[in-house]
Amino acid sequence: MPSLNDIRSTFLGYFEKNGHRVVDSSPLVPRNDPTLMFTNSGMVQFKNLFTGIETRDYNRATTAQKCVRAGGKHNDLDNVGYTARHHTFFEMLGNFSFGDYFKDQAIPYAWELLTRDFGIPRDRLLVTIYHTDDEAAAIWKKVAGLPDERIIRIPTSDNFWQMGPTGPCGPCTEIFYDHGDHIWGGPPGSPDEDGDRFIEIWNLVFMQNEQFEDGSMRALDMQSIDTGMGLERIGALLQGKHDNYDTDLMRALIEASAHATSADPDGPGKVHHRVIADHLRSTSFLIADGVMPSNEGRGYVLRRIMRRAMRHAHMLGASDPVMHRLVPALVHEMGAAYPELGRAQALITETLRSEETRFRQTLDRGLRLLDDEVSRLPEGADLPGAAAFKLYDTYGFPLDLTQDALREQGRAVEIAGFDAAMAEQKAKARAAWSGSGEAADAAIWFNLAEQHGATEFLGYDTEEAEGQILALVIDGNPQDSAGEGTRVGIVVNQSPFYAESGGQVGDTGLILTETGAARVTDTRKIAGVFVHQAEVTRGQVQRGQGAQLSVDHARRGTIRANHSATHLLHEALRGVLGDHVAQRGSLNAPDRLRFDFSHNHAVSTADMARIEAEVNEFIRQNSPVETRIMTPEDARALGAQALFGEKYGDEVRVVSMGRRGNSGKGTDGQTYSIELCGGTHVARTGDIGAFALLGDSASSAGVRRIEALTGQAALDHLRSSDAQLSEIAGVLKAQAGDVVNRVRALADERKQLANEVAQLKRQLAMGGGAGGSEARDVGGIRFLGRRVEGVGGKELGALVDEMKSQLGSGAVLVLAEADGKATVAAGVTADLTARISAVALVQAATAALGGKGGGGRPDRAQGGAPSLADADRAIAEVEKLIGESA
Ligand code: ALA
Repeated sequence: MPSLNDIRSTFLGYFEKNGHRVVDSSPLVPRNDPTLMFTNSGMVQFKNLFTGIETRDYNRATTAQKCVRAGGKHNDLDNVGYTARHHTFFEMLGNFSFGDYFKDQAIPYAWELLTRDFGIPRDRLLVTIYHTDDEAAAIWKKVAGLPDERIIRIPTSDNFWQMGPTGPCGPCTEIFYDHGDHIWGGPPGSPDEDGDRFIEIWNLVFMQNEQFEDGSMRALDMQSIDTGMGLERIGALLQGKHDNYDTDLMRALIEASAHATSADPDGPGKVHHRVIADHLRSTSFLIADGVMPSNEGRGYVLRRIMRRAMRHAHMLGASDPVMHRLVPALVHEMGAAYPELGRAQALITETLRSEETRFRQTLDRGLRLLDDEVSRLPEGADLPGAAAFKLYDTYGFPLDLTQDALREQGRAVEIAGFDAAMAEQKAKARAAWSGSGEAADAAIWFNLAEQHGATEFLGYDTEEAEGQILALVIDGNPQDSAGEGTRVGIVVNQSPFYAESGGQVGDTGLILTETGAARVTDTRKIAGVFVHQAEVTRGQVQRGQGAQLSVDHARRGTIRANHSATHLLHEALRGVLGDHVAQRGSLNAPDRLRFDFSHNHAVSTADMARIEAEVNEFIRQNSPVETRIMTPEDARALGAQALFGEKYGDEVRVVSMGRRGNSGKGTDGQTYSIELCGGTHVARTGDIGAFALLGDSASSAGVRRIEALTGQAALDHLRSSDAQLSEIAGVLKAQAGDVVNRVRALADERKQLANEVAQLKRQLAMGGGAGGSEARDVGGIRFLGRRVEGVGGKELGALVDEMKSQLGSGAVLVLAEADGKATVAAGVTADLTARISAVALVQAATAALGGKGGGGRPDRAQGGAPSLADADRAIAEVEKLIGESA
C-alpha cells in the first residue's frame, strides 16, 4: 500500500519524466496576491505566468503545494473533524503548462497517471466537463474511451474555475471516483450528488481567460493548464479508505494525539483527535512560514485554529499542554518533503507550548461561564451575542471556538448581538483615543484603522509583496487618485515596509501599480495603519489598485545589521559596565546606530575596546537570531531586556541572539542577548559583518550616548582611521607603530620650546637686558614704562618682576598686546609700596586706555584694556601719578 509520501513522489516523478520542472511549494502567505489570505491552490505562485506578466525558464511545472483553507473565501474550518474530507491544511498536487500543452495533452497525462501508475480501475472513473466544451468531451472519448454517460456536462460555475473575483480562469474538467453502490450518493449534477459515493479527485483547469474587477473577461494570449488533486483524497482512495483521516499520515498524527492524551483514537474522543491532527498541520506549517499568533489578520486565523485545537485537547481530558508534544510526529511524517518544518521545529514547539499554556489559564473559566449561560437557556436556543462577546473579550475565545463548542449541543451564537457588542467596544476605544490628545488630522487614520483593521506587516520575511491600495491621503484629505509630482500617504492592506518604531527608522522604497509609480521616502504607523509617505514619480496611483511594494533592499540591510548590533551592544555594555545599564533610547538608521543608556561616567578607552571586541566576538560566532512570541511575563521570566516604563500588549516579540561560551558571563550555552523587540533583524549575527564604536558622549544627566557603525561602514571607518594614521606617520617620517611615541616626544619638545620662546620674548621685551637705561627719574622714583607686542597676559607677571629687579628700586608699567588682546601690568619694588600701589597704577593706565578696573597686590597688579591706542597717554598718566606720590 503506497504511503502519502510515496504517492506524492510518484506524482511529481511522473510529471518530471514528462518534461516538467519540479518546483518547491510556495509559502502559505502569498507573496504575489494581496487579495488572498493564504495560498489555497497550486496555481497561486504561477498566477502571473498565466496572464503573461511574468516568464520563467520553464513552461511546464509540477508541485506539491501546501494549502490552507481557513479564513477568507475558502474556509473549511467549521467542518474540520466532523467530516471525512475537510481540512484546514492539505497538499495539492498539480501539473502546469504555461502556454505549452493544452487539453489534448493534459487529459492523456491525467488518465495515464491514474490508470497506469496509480492502477485505478478504469471503470471506476467518470468525468465532468463544462457544458459547452465539446473539445474536452471528444478528447475524453478518444483517450479514455469513456461512454457519453460518464462524460457529464455541467452548466454551472462548478466547471468554470476562478481563483477569485479577478485573475486567470477557464473551464475545467473534474475526474470522479465511484466508491460503489454500497455507499449512498448520485453522480455529479444529479439530485443526490452530495452523497459520498462519487468523490472528485482531480480538477484540470483549461486556463484561457482573465476576469477583471468590473465583471469583464478577456481571452488570454496563450492557453495554459492548471490542475489540482488533493493528496489526502487520492491517498485515501489508493489506500482503500473512504475517509482522509484514515490515511497513513493522518492516522500517525491521530495516534500521536491518542498517545499524548491517553485517549482511545477511535473512542468517543474521535472527533477531537481528528481536529487536533488537522490543526497541528495547519498551525505548524503557518508558523514555519512566518505567521505568528496575534489578534489581527493572518495571525488571528492562526490563533483561532490553535485555540480550537486546544479546546479539543482539553475535551480529551488533557491537563497539560498537548499540541507542542505532537510536533515530532509531524516532522517525522512530513519533514522530508517539507524541510522548513524541521528548520522551524523549535519555533513551532515553543509557540504552541506558550499559546496553550496561556490559553489554559482562561479556557477552564470560560467553559464554565459558557456552561452556566447555556444552562439558563431554553432547549435549542441560541447563545446571546453578549455572552459570546464576553467569552471573546475576557477569556480569549475566538467566536468560532464558541460556535464549535455549541455545535455539539445543537446550538448557535446569536451573531447580531455579538457584532453589536463588538461595535460598542470599538466606539469606546475610539472615544478614549480621541481624548488622548493626538493631532486632530490623525482622525482620518483612526477611521481607516476602524474600517480596514491594522496594516499587516509582512516585512519580517520579505521585502517585496503585493498589497491593495485602501486609501490615498493628500494634505490630510482622502482622495481617489494621486498624480505625478504629488506627495501622498499611501495605505495598503499589507506591506513589507517597516513603519518607524522602537528606534528603527521607517523603510523607503517603491510602490508600483498598473498606472504609475511612487517613491516612498518614509513609513510611519498611526493607529496601527502604515502610512507610506510617497511622491508619485510617474503616471498616477489609484485607490483600489493592486500594488507591487518593494523595500529599498540595501538600506533595509544596513538598518537590520545596525538593529541587531544594538542588541549585542546593549548586552556587552551590561557585561562590561554592569547591570545598571538600561536602554534609554536608540536609533537604528541605515548609516549608523545610536544607543543611549543609564550610566554616570564617561566610558574609558579600555572599556570601549572591550565592548567593541565583545560585540565583534558575537558577530563572528554567527549564531542564528531567533524570534518568538510570548506574554510579557514569560519574556521577563526568560530574562528579556525591556524598555523601562514602556507599555506592552498581551504578547510580545522576543528576539534572542548569541550563545555564551567559556569566556562569557553565565553558564555555557546560555543565550547571550534576549530583548523584547518588534524590529527587523539579521538572520545570523555574522550578517552584521563588523562593528566599530565611534565614541561616547553625555546625552543628559546620568545618560551616556554611544554611536557605532556596522558592516561596510565600520570597515570604511577603520580603513579611513588607518589611512589617517599612515598619513601622520608619513608626515612624522616614522613607522605607524612609533607614531604615539613620536607624537609624545613632539608634545614634550613643543612645551619646552614654548617655554624658551616665552623667555626669549621677555628678554626681547626687556630690550636685550638694557631696560634699566630707559628708566626715568620721576621726583626721585625710577619709572620704567613700556609697550610690548606679542606678549600675552600670562607672561606679563614674569616680565614685570624681571624689570623690577633690573631697576632695583622703582615702578614699572607694561602695556602688552598679543592675539588682539591688550593687557596692562604694573609693578612697584617693595621699598616703595608704602607710597605707591601697583593697583593704582594699573587702574590709572586702564582708565587712560578707555577701560576700567584691574587688580592685584601693591607690588604687582594687572588688568585688561580695550586697546593700546592711547598707550602714550597711559604712560604719561601713570608717570603723573608717580610724580604726585613722590
Ligand atoms: N486551481 C484548481 C483548483 O484549485 C486546479 O481546483
